[in-house]
Amino acid sequence: MHVDAALGGFILPFARKLGYDIPQFDFAVEGVTSINLDTHKYGYAPKGSSVILYRDPELFSYQVYTVGDWTGGIYFTPTTLGSKPGFTIAATWAAMLYLGEEGYMKITKEILETGKYIVNETRKISELKILGDPLWIIAISSDSINPYVIMDYMAQRNWHLIGLINPPGFHIALTYRHTLPGVKESFINDLRESIKDAIEKGQPTTGMAPIYGATAFLPKDQLDLILKYVIDWLYNPWE
Ligand SMILES: Cc1ncc(COP(=O)(O)O)c(C=O)c1O
Repeated sequence: MHVDAALGGFILPFARKLGYDIPQFDFAVEGVTSINLDTHKYGYAPKGSSVILYRDPELFSYQVYTVGDWTGGIYFTPTTLGSKPGFTIAATWAAMLYLGEEGYMKITKEILETGKYIVNETRKISELKILGDPLWIIAISSDSINPYVIMDYMAQRNWHLIGLINPPGFHIALTYRHTLPGVKESFINDLRESIKDAIEKGQPTTGMAPIYGATAFLPKDQLDLILKYVIDWLYNPWE
């Protein structure tokens, strides 16, 4: 079994050390054979760097690509990307050394405390509901207002939140920047103002609400097809 710890891999181990009740999710669980975690997310390294861990070397061997009889010489690479920038590896190493365990613990603590504030304050807003019992990736929905409309009014206030489907909602993944003074209070204040706008003004003329609304009704195969058309269109700028 593979564990996708892209988002959580650099938070959960530190959260556990801070005393949060984090269920086992790693190699401590029997049957987990590989885990990915993104240094380029909460590891604070540049994009393009990531980590995959295997329980045993045999599994790793399947990701290695070799061409022993290539006329250009021997070719072998352990990653999908062949030629790759040494800069990314060096900068990732530097970020990890710079922050160290102490730095990651400090950042995690602040992010989780910010998360607690946002969850508690959002729960006080009667029009909204928090999905699940989150720590720092907070998904919000509503039974009384179209959440995508709230999301659009939040965008007008410079909060670029990510829409969710099934159930409809949006989420915020808190980062270190959200822990800066005044940011969490602005978020809650802007949520309240955006709800007011949604009730008083209805759907704005621009925004993502119609797109997210449509995706909730389109069958999955049609959606996949549309996404492929988008990629084709992006790669064919002359047509
Ligand atoms: C849980 C999870 N898995 C995978 C990915 C994909 O990561 P990447 O964009 O580095 O391929 C993301 C990105 O946000 C993620 O949050």
